Amino acid sequence: MTMSNTWHWYVLLGTLISLIAIMWLLFANRTTSGEKTTGHEWDGIEELDNPLPLWWVGLFVGSVIYGLVYLIWYPGLGDLAGIGEWTSTGQLKEITEQHDARFAPLYAELASLDVEAMAEDRRARQVGRRLFLNNCSICHGLNGQGLSGFPNLADDEWIWGRRLDEIKASIRNGRSAAMPAWETVIKDKGVSEVTQYVLSLSGRVHDEDMASRGSNIFSTMCAACHGAQGKGIAALGGPDLSNDIWLYGGDSQNIAESIRKGRNGQMPAQLGKLGEDRITILAGYLVNLSQ
Ligand code: HEC
Ligand code: HEC
Repeated sequence: MTMSNTWHWYVLLGTLISLIAIMWLLFANRTTSGEKTTGHEWDGIEELDNPLPLWWVGLFVGSVIYGLVYLIWYPGLGDLAGIGEWTSTGQLKEITEQHDARFAPLYAELASLDVEAMAEDRRARQVGRRLFLNNCSICHGLNGQGLSGFPNLADDEWIWGRRLDEIKASIRNGRSAAMPAWETVIKDKGVSEVTQYVLSLSGRVHDEDMASRGSNIFSTMCAACHGAQGKGIAALGGPDLSNDIWLYGGDSQNIAESIRKGRNGQMPAQLGKLGEDRITILAGYLVNLSQ
């Protein structure tokens, strides 16, 4: 953590001054008056004026020195790094590396299995599930069921392609969907018409007249990414609009909103974080999950 220069000095001086102050407090109270008691007396009980025991003073000084060494070794004095060069991120990195080295052979072994063998192998299933929970469930749901804007990975419907290598590519390199906003191009009227046409593609209740006008808009403006029949184009991430499975909701408002404002779903690339083997295990896990 870095702090502003003023705070750095404030904390640093505050720490040192407190340490000096408690040492002063100790030594200021070491000498005694020479009398047997302090003169305080209540109901026959007198407060004696003995010097502090040596073992106690030793312990006190010892802890102050320990504290000082600790503060200098670890980062503890304001913003200074500490001569031990310890950082929490460094420690995390070290533990992560140890962990990765320990599990690398297992990941490599499981990644060499084909998808059917992964389905049979209990460890592959467990590791796949664990990796999914740790890295993916926050967006795709605990069971891969997805939610609005985050695709369901447990069904057999794939926006970016259903083949193992396509699923792997989705995970490895991420995906960036680009659905343009149409409101300024086709205006409210066009949005309403093409919305009715999109509803008709999946056999939903729709207005025939509007849908037939929308059909023209669709073939000129939309077919390039969603296909002439609206069945989707995996290479562009244009979803199938005819199957009644929706990434952003399938009622007429949601559909009109997608068309009006556009959509830009982002799947973050995982290669840097997980490496090839874990990606292969995850891809196999997802293929099996979706069957
Ligand atoms: C340049 C390619 C492109 C064009 C042209 C395009 N789309 Fe899209 N569309 C996409 C992509 C990519 C997505 C997925 C967005 C995402 O995943 O965030 C999408 C998503 C959608 C969705 C949401 C689907 C869902 O499952 O929720 C609808 C509805 C839609 N498009 C309709 C249209 C209509 C109607 C047109 C023509 C007016 C059109 N699109 C033109 C690429 C395109
Ligand atoms: C920050 C959120 C986020 C995380 C974390 C995330 N994803 Fe995604 N993922 C998305 C989004 C959003 C999309 C859809 C992109 C689009 O609109 O087309 C997606 C798409 C995908 C797809 C393509 C789905 C299809 O239908 O073609 C796969 C496969 C996938 N993710 C797997 C994973 C795996 C495996 C992990 C964990 C290693 C993961 N994702 C982690 C947000 C995320």
